[in-house]
Amino acid sequence: MEGQKNRGSWGSNIGFIMAAIGSAVGLGNIWGFPYKMGEKGGFAFLLVYIILSLVVGLAIMISELAMGRKTGLGVIGTYNALSKRFKWVGWLSIFAPFIIMSFYSTLGGYCLQYFFLNLADFGFGIVSVSGKQAFDGMLSNPIGCALFTVIFIVICYFIVRGGIQGGIEKFNTFGMPALFILLIVIIIRSVTLEGASEGLEFMFKPDFSQFSTLSGTLSVLSAAGGQMFFSLSLAMGPIITYGSYLSKKENLVKNSIVIVIADTIVAIMAGLAVLPASFALGGESATLSGPELLFVTLQDVFASMGKLGSLFGILFYGLVLIAAISSAISLMEVLTTFFMDKAQAKGKQGNRSKITIYISLAVLVEALIVSFDGMGTNGLWVPFQNLPGSFNDSWLNFMTMLSEGIAMPLAAFLMSLMVGWELKPKTIKDEVCQHGNKFYGYGFFSFCIKFIVPVVMLFILFGQICSSFGINWL
Ligand code: PHE
Repeated sequence: MEGQKNRGSWGSNIGFIMAAIGSAVGLGNIWGFPYKMGEKGGFAFLLVYIILSLVVGLAIMISELAMGRKTGLGVIGTYNALSKRFKWVGWLSIFAPFIIMSFYSTLGGYCLQYFFLNLADFGFGIVSVSGKQAFDGMLSNPIGCALFTVIFIVICYFIVRGGIQGGIEKFNTFGMPALFILLIVIIIRSVTLEGASEGLEFMFKPDFSQFSTLSGTLSVLSAAGGQMFFSLSLAMGPIITYGSYLSKKENLVKNSIVIVIADTIVAIMAGLAVLPASFALGGESATLSGPELLFVTLQDVFASMGKLGSLFGILFYGLVLIAAISSAISLMEVLTTFFMDKAQAKGKQGNRSKITIYISLAVLVEALIVSFDGMGTNGLWVPFQNLPGSFNDSWLNFMTMLSEGIAMPLAAFLMSLMVGWELKPKTIKDEVCQHGNKFYGYGFFSFCIKFIVPVVMLFILFGQICSSFGINWL
């Protein structure tokens, strides 16, 4: 079950860690985590999130890295090589990244537009639109959105074409520290605004009353679980794929812990950057999550900061852009590695440039549908429009339901059955313990992957289906 030769590899362990953190840190950390934390119990939510990360997220992260490294293949190859019964799960994990790219590239295009909006304002001081005017104007100009979506995909294309070391690792070793520094600058500005403390209180104030009913507890658990999965890029291919390029010398458990902790810290930091400012300057009815947080509320925040506002706007949208690119390239790499491995299996050396072009074009087609749709404002037909639920009011929500709502929790559930019961946790241990590495906490890992992860994943799948299709289950 050895991987193929000459596939490429990470230049260093730190390069791999930066790339994995880059995949994990994305739009989910910025517009999902802070608001969910504030709304679902503040500090109480954070505790649940951390516990879930430790017993579920970490176990899957270790398993995925070990599976990828053991086979030295992308997702499809890995499942094929490891399992008889779960062979087909790889297809779920390749379907999800492809679908996510449709809306990720559209949103990446929006970030580019807002970056340039603020740049123009800083340079000429002539842009005086509210966040809502900018957002509505952007959405009702599908050609503009399409153009910026294309630019975003082209940027990702060039990075992925550069290969694991020459493209992805290079981008992330520069991008991640830059993102961190930008985040700190924005946090300092945000928490020192007058009225910032309200945002801090919203985000951190512990509210254990959410746990006083069963339905409240389940809703916190499902929100925290779904968020954690998306945020850590689990069950969607990037971690298996990135793991397949990792040297046998590296300690998978230590790496997994670092990735999970860094992702959680960045999510909390993102909250410190966006919520205090939104409370201080966003106005009474400011939207605090989703695309409106990024593109309406925060644009209003920057507009009301006076002369320097657009400079903070440039820094902030630059930061979001880095986060979006570093996640998008990990999704594109899942597909690229699949085709590269396929070529190698036939004894040919895959042509990365050509493969990446085809993938970019395929992504472009689906992304154009989402970007033309303008969050449902441009009247495009969405599949199953008449079914109940919130998933079919726009292409963005439809694609989210397919990937995040179904493919991801289903793949993670099946993967834990495969690792826990078919392959047995020892297979993961043997891979972790290469080159004399130790697997501290193996007993705990084994218990989690066999019993806790499948139950939690089934539960998350159920919660996601109910919320997508508007089913009131309790
Ligand atoms: N983890 C990214 C985020 O938080 C999104 C993502 C999901 C990236 C799955 C890759 C794979 O936004």
